[in-house]
Amino acid sequence: MALNKKTVDDLSVQGKRVLVRCDFNVPLKNGEITDETRIVAALPTINKLISGGAKVILCSHLGKVKNGPNEGESLAPVAKRLSEKLGKEVNFVADYNVTGEAATAAVNAMKEGDVVLLQNTRFRGKEETKPTEAGEAFAKELADLADDYVCDAFGSSHRAHASVSVVTKYIKEKGGSNAVGYLMQKEIDFLGNAVENPVRPFVAILGGAKVADKLNVINNLLEKCDTLIIGGGMAFTFLKAQGCEIGKSLVDDEKLDYCKEMIAKAEKLGKKLLLPVDTVVADSFPDPIDNPSIAVATVDSDKIPADKEGLDIGDKTRTLYADAVKTAKTVVWNGPMGVFENPVLAEGTKAVAKALAETEATTIIGGGDSAAAVNQLGFADKMSHISTGGGASLEFLEGKELPGVYAADDK
Ligand code: 3PG
Ligand code: MG
Repeated sequence: MALNKKTVDDLSVQGKRVLVRCDFNVPLKNGEITDETRIVAALPTINKLISGGAKVILCSHLGKVKNGPNEGESLAPVAKRLSEKLGKEVNFVADYNVTGEAATAAVNAMKEGDVVLLQNTRFRGKEETKPTEAGEAFAKELADLADDYVCDAFGSSHRAHASVSVVTKYIKEKGGSNAVGYLMQKEIDFLGNAVENPVRPFVAILGGAKVADKLNVINNLLEKCDTLIIGGGMAFTFLKAQGCEIGKSLVDDEKLDYCKEMIAKAEKLGKKLLLPVDTVVADSFPDPIDNPSIAVATVDSDKIPADKEGLDIGDKTRTLYADAVKTAKTVVWNGPMGVFENPVLAEGTKAVAKALAETEATTIIGGGDSAAAVNQLGFADKMSHISTGGGASLEFLEGKELPGVYAADDK
C-alpha cells in the first residue's frame, strides 16, 4: 500500500528540533522493563535523526495513568534502557508537567545529535481529550518545543491524543513539517499490503476472548480474505449461533444475531469460515490462570457438556487450522486460540503459531496478546512481521483511518 505521507526521509533536520512521538508503553514489573520490543522498534527513526544532526526530543505515554502522575508510571526506566540501546546519553526530563520550564531548559541546552526524553504524556490529564477540546493547550506546548514533528508511535496511532495528532496542527501553524517514522511506515506497509493487496490465498485467523472486540475486524476481513478462521473464547458465540451446545463456555448472547449474519455473509461471498470442531474443556477457568494441574478433556464442539467450559481448540481443530495455513500465501493472525497463559491450554495457540512459523507465506501477527503468545512460544523470529500495536493494528484491520497517520503532511 503506498503511503502518501511525508516520512523522516523527506525532512531536512540538521540543527532542527524534532519532536518524535514514540510508543514506549512497555510492560514493567517492579520497575523493570519485561519486554523492550517497542524501544528497539523505535531505534531506526531515532538513529536516523541523530545522524542527520537533529536535536531529538522524544515523548510517549506509559500505562493508563488512572490515578494521576506517579513514579510507577514514570518513563525513567525507558530513558535508561534507551540510552543503553543508543549508546549515548538520553537526557530525561522527569518533570511531571511534561512541558514547561524544565523541558524548555533541556531543549535549549541541546546540541545537534542530542536526545531528550520528556516525561509520560499522560501525566498531563489533557493528553487524552479529543481534538478541539482541552488537549489543545498541551499540544501547543509540545509543538512550541520543536520545529518539526515525527509520529512513530504506531501502537498509539489510533488515539487522537494531544501528542499523537493534535500537535501536528501547531507544528504546521508555525511552518514546520509533520512526518511519519520508519516504524509507522513498516507497520503500514505490512498490514496495509496484507489487507488491501494480499498475495492469495489470504487466510485471516482471529481469536481472543470477546467477539464484541472484533466485530468490525471480522466484518472487514471477511470481505478481504479467502478463509477466515475463528478460535479463542469468541468462537463459542459463533458455535452457539449455529445451534451447538456450548456448556458454560464464554458467550455473548447479544452478539448471536451478528454471528449468524457473518456466517451468512461468508456463505454469500463464497468465503470459507472455519470454526472449532473440537474443544478442550475443564470444570472452570483456571485459577490462578497458569495453574498447571488443571484437569481437561477434549470433546466435539457441538456437544460441550453443560457443566464444562471450553478453554482451547482441540486436536482435530489444530490440524484443520494448520492445514488451512499451509495453503495460504498471506496470513494475518490476531488473538490467541485458548488460554495460552496456561501451559495445559496453550497447545491450540502453539499449533497455530507453529503452522505460521513453518509456512513460506507472508505471516503478520497483530500485536497485543498474539504477539505476546508468539514471543512466549519462541516463534517470533519466524514471522514476517509482528506488529507493535494491539488496538492500533485491530483498528487498521477494521479498515479505519488512524489519527497518527492522517495527521501527517501529505507528500
Ligand atoms: C497499547 O499498548 O495498546 C498502546 O500503547 C496504546 O495504549 P492505550 O491502549 O492505553 O491507549
Ligand atoms: Mg491498548
